[in-house]
Amino acid sequence: MNNKIVLTGIKPTGIPHLGNLVGVIDPLIKLSYDTKRTFAFIADLHALNDVKARANIKSNTYEVAISMLAFNPDPEKFILFRQSDIAEVSQLSSLLMNVTSKGLMNKAHAYKAFVDKNIANGFDKDAGINMGLFTYPILMAADILLYNADLVPLGQDQRQHLEFTRDIAAAFNHAYKENVFKLPEALISEKTGIMMPGLDGRKMSKSYDNYINIFCAEDVLKKKIMKIKTDSKTPAEPKNPDESIIFAIYQNFASPDETKNMRDRFLNGGLGYGTAKQELFELINSRLKGLRNIYQNLINDKKHVDNVLKRGAEIAGEIAQKNLKKVKQVMLG
Ligand code: TRP
Repeated sequence: MNNKIVLTGIKPTGIPHLGNLVGVIDPLIKLSYDTKRTFAFIADLHALNDVKARANIKSNTYEVAISMLAFNPDPEKFILFRQSDIAEVSQLSSLLMNVTSKGLMNKAHAYKAFVDKNIANGFDKDAGINMGLFTYPILMAADILLYNADLVPLGQDQRQHLEFTRDIAAAFNHAYKENVFKLPEALISEKTGIMMPGLDGRKMSKSYDNYINIFCAEDVLKKKIMKIKTDSKTPAEPKNPDESIIFAIYQNFASPDETKNMRDRFLNGGLGYGTAKQELFELINSRLKGLRNIYQNLINDKKHVDNVLKRGAEIAGEIAQKNLKKVKQVMLG
């Protein structure tokens, strides 16, 4: 692992929540310690095709950047930058268009879902679809291929994009009879057993309004945890931990011993939901307490964040320039 280059992009579509922490931020920072280099960028260009996301790109870019910096990644190995700061990525994306078939893009899940919705509503099939959405997978391939990434941590919903990246890379190598791009591999987070439900038991997500922000105030954290859905079992009754949202969230933060202890107490009866929620609150709060200040200080020191992003863009930019030059050489002589 220690010679691998890791890369992932995070769209600035909102304030990161506990699901993002457990599913994306934590594993990424951990992985960065065991690998050669990690490129983590805020995929602001990818947010542009969505009108709703467009309004808050700048503030959400800071939110995402700060949420990662608060966990203190090694600045030598963890290269944090803003996608749009690297002009080369847009150029590589347009170059890659020439080896990407339109038919491949027609198969993209996100595009197809849009088309299906249009048809169901009796609209023209491409109504409201811009080329940013249609070519989204090509820009994503450019992101990944520009930095020679080996491993790309992703959610299950992004698996197809990685397949497309590999297809595009292989099509390029084939067309130009040279191994210019290496084929990256996906690291799918769901496979590692992470299941982070929201307050209502569905996957924690902005769109369900069932989330808890990572750095929310202590009283907000408590109030939200107290809102977690439960059934009406009395404290004395034994409970199945695997059917409990409280337990499912708890496992994501607890040590194996703590998890086993809570599991046994669910099974044995005698643990009321109120007490379990209080313990869940204390566990999460103990982990995040010290970080709230760090987060707040960073929010108040955008200059520092700008500097980190600038430095990240310098490092990423150097590699991008070198690799784009090579691609242009192969394509244009
Ligand atoms: N499409 C990804 C998402 O929606 C974000 C993303 C953009 C990305 N470029 C990337 C992820 C490159 C990994 C690699 O989550």
